[in-house]
Amino acid sequence: MNTDEQKRAAGQAAAMRLPGDAIIGVGTGSTVNHFIDALADLRDTIPAAVSSSEASAQRLRRAGIAVEDLNSVNEVAVYVDGADEINRLLQMIKGGGGALTREKVVAAVSKQFICIADESKLVHTLGTFPLPVEVIPMARSHVARQLVRLGGRPVLRESFVTDNGNQILDVHGLVIQEPLALEDRINGIAGVVSNGLFAHRGADLLLLATAEGVQEFRRP
Ligand code: 5RP
Repeated sequence: MNTDEQKRAAGQAAAMRLPGDAIIGVGTGSTVNHFIDALADLRDTIPAAVSSSEASAQRLRRAGIAVEDLNSVNEVAVYVDGADEINRLLQMIKGGGGALTREKVVAAVSKQFICIADESKLVHTLGTFPLPVEVIPMARSHVARQLVRLGGRPVLRESFVTDNGNQILDVHGLVIQEPLALEDRINGIAGVVSNGLFAHRGADLLLLATAEGVQEFRRP
């Protein structure tokens, strides 16, 4: 299986695991797009979805699935999303697509987080993938200086505005030995909206597509 076939296999595996008649959370990215495509056949069993991005919301509607505002939903049973990197503790770097803040919010209200990924995403130590940090535009330079003090090399994501009207700094060169502490530390910088470390709210289940098939890993 090539990478795209692995992404499709992971997305289809997640679709098979949804509880019936429950509101689901849907993330963002090419792996999630395969998940949404697999939902089209299940549309009668899904009352509604909440989405982490405008792009996924549009794709969900095209698949015949109603999209609700998170504020009008009491409970999200399961959140399905991809990752840019994931370790064996099921802590992740996310935000390659720039949707990290909304992803974090939907993940926070969901009872279960299922991460779907191809095998290239599983790493021993997080940090090879540049860590996305969403910043309020007027705070960009201040935040960048603080990130340099933490040992990173922040690079502004050019010509990109998040769904929340903010900018993204992609932080290169971090070897993230303590994801929980770094997530808190970056969130504590004035002007940071959120960062792409999902350590405090990691995944509960990883569906990792490999050449041998889809493997399951649970949070230890
Ligand atoms: C978007 C994300 C995605 O989940 C992450 O970038 C993985 O994307 P893909 O499935 O395209 O590899 O966090 O903000």
